[in-house]
Amino acid sequence: MNTLAPLETLFEMDGGKDLPLPPNLTTLYGRLQFPSPLGSPHVIGNFVSTLDGIVSLDAQTSGGVISGFNQHDRMVMGLLRAVADVVIVGAGTLRAEPQHLWTADYIYPSLSAEYQQLRANLKKSDPPLNVIVTGRGEIDLNLRVFQSGEVPVLIVTTTNGEHRIRKRGLPQSVRVAAMKGASLLCAQAILDAIGRARQSDIILIEGGPHLMGNFFAEQCLDELFLTLAPQIAGRDNSTERPGLVAGKIFAPEQPLWSTLIGVKRGGSHLFLRYRLSR
Ligand SMILES: NC(=O)c1ccc[n+]([C@@H]2O[C@H](COP(=O)([O-])OP(=O)(O)OC[C@H]3O[C@@H](n4cnc5c(N)ncnc54)[C@H](OP(=O)(O)O)[C@@H]3O)[C@@H](O)[C@H]2O)c1
Repeated sequence: MNTLAPLETLFEMDGGKDLPLPPNLTTLYGRLQFPSPLGSPHVIGNFVSTLDGIVSLDAQTSGGVISGFNQHDRMVMGLLRAVADVVIVGAGTLRAEPQHLWTADYIYPSLSAEYQQLRANLKKSDPPLNVIVTGRGEIDLNLRVFQSGEVPVLIVTTTNGEHRIRKRGLPQSVRVAAMKGASLLCAQAILDAIGRARQSDIILIEGGPHLMGNFFAEQCLDELFLTLAPQIAGRDNSTERPGLVAGKIFAPEQPLWSTLIGVKRGGSHLFLRYRLSR
């Protein structure tokens, strides 16, 4: 039995249509709305950050240490994966969490039945397409996400990256979309490649900071779900500790402002939801 306390909704802007959450998830999260109708895929990001703006202690550690392995954060991650048609991550995030599968059940198994019910209510029969973005194509194809066949996978890469990947042999559940040009793929081209592979209403980006930087720079993001974990992680000059964007600068010339559309509280963790302009 799940013993998690419900999140407390402190503020919520009316935002469209209620998704058909099973009763248990409505109790835990409240209502979950998305704009309706969705003309094109609705692109959302989900991150957890410390109070001092850090999302990664170093390239090897997962987001779990940032949230303090917080159960509410996992529940929300699961909820967003359960409604997503596609989950996108960069190769750096895969390298930090090599055994990960980007499904609701994987991140919060104790609500597995509820997440499956929600997917069934949404008529989404398959798990979300797991998309891995890599310029170089230096990824380990022996990892669970590629080998287990538990999720369909699309690797979005460059033509050089594709060449490297195909040389090593592709499991059946894995497809590759390759693009000509520089090693840094543009966010819109990544979305277009995904659009050719799967028809989607909701596309979820789970980072990391370099991938996120491209999506912010091209204003390809509709919303950001941001968990604020009540820890101060600190910085010095020994290791890079990025915030949710790396490799891009916006302010002061082109600051990206957003609108707060939701605030929930679980203990001392805050669950913020922002609308961005595209
Ligand atoms: N706190 C959180 O919510 C959260 C969320 C996600 C990740 N993280 C953490 O962030 C850290 C990793 O950071 P990161 O910035 O390296 O992650 P990342 O953005 O997932 O990975 C960067 C790598 O992804 C590929 N990539 C990203 N954008 C690309 C683009 N536009 N075109 C082509 N390739 C692209 C490149 O791979 P190649 O090098 O293969 O070309 C690049 O080196 C880890 O510690 C992870 O745990 C934290």
